[in-house]
Amino acid sequence: MSTDGTTKLLGEIDAYVEELFVPPDEALEAALRDSRQAGLPEINVSANEGRLLQLFAELVGARRILEIGTLGGYSAIHFARALPDGGTLISLELEERHAEVARANLERAGLKERVEVRVGDARELLAAMVENGEGPFDLIFIDADKEGYPEYLEWSLRLSRPGTLLLADNTVRGGAVLDPQDGSAQATREFNERVAHDPGLSGIVLPLIRERIDGITIARVRDA
Ligand code: SAH
Ligand code: DHB
Ligand code: MG
Repeated sequence: MSTDGTTKLLGEIDAYVEELFVPPDEALEAALRDSRQAGLPEINVSANEGRLLQLFAELVGARRILEIGTLGGYSAIHFARALPDGGTLISLELEERHAEVARANLERAGLKERVEVRVGDARELLAAMVENGEGPFDLIFIDADKEGYPEYLEWSLRLSRPGTLLLADNTVRGGAVLDPQDGSAQATREFNERVAHDPGLSGIVLPLIRERIDGITIARVRDA
């Protein structure tokens, strides 16, 4: 099949799954609408990926979730909905403006009480979390600047326990990770290699359909 034909088919398959599994949702739609109106980049996870994130959190019975890269809170809404009463999501965001939009979106979704959005460079916020003994988390989702992924992996491991589920978005990048010459994917390639080679982790990269093919890296911290 031609490349164009494949792209079209992938889009149709994604729409098919969304139609089946993702019911219309006012809070999520409003979050996307307000994020767009505020001029935030439209780089949130897809509806289907959001569903997958929520399912992962439910599968591991997550009570404490850490997200690195909040944007307008679209993925955060999914995680927060998966939490039981008393559960917490901490989400880290560099841009105050993004955080403000996210807080409003989370409040409208009725999730304000269980989510804390912290503003700053994730490297510094993560260092402070380790320093203050804020771990371990049950699930950690890495989705901020792609150059930071290898560093975020190191911090995440320090905020984990055996059984913690580590997830990272955008780890295929339209196949850019396949090309050793593609500097834009260098950090992502390094991230996937570290996850693959770390004897303390068992993981996989799962390709996902986006505007282009992308993927999510999934890893579980092994029992000691
Ligand atoms: N998880 C979101 C999308 C996040 S987009 C969703 O799917 O809905 C990536 C976000 O990471 C952007 O909002 C960007 O401002 C933020 N970011 C970029 N560099 C960062 C850094 N060094 N520390 C914290 N956040 C950062
Ligand atoms: C893009 C997508 C993302 O999910 C993200 O976190 C950053 C960038 C993109 O498609 O450019
Ligand atoms: Mg992403």
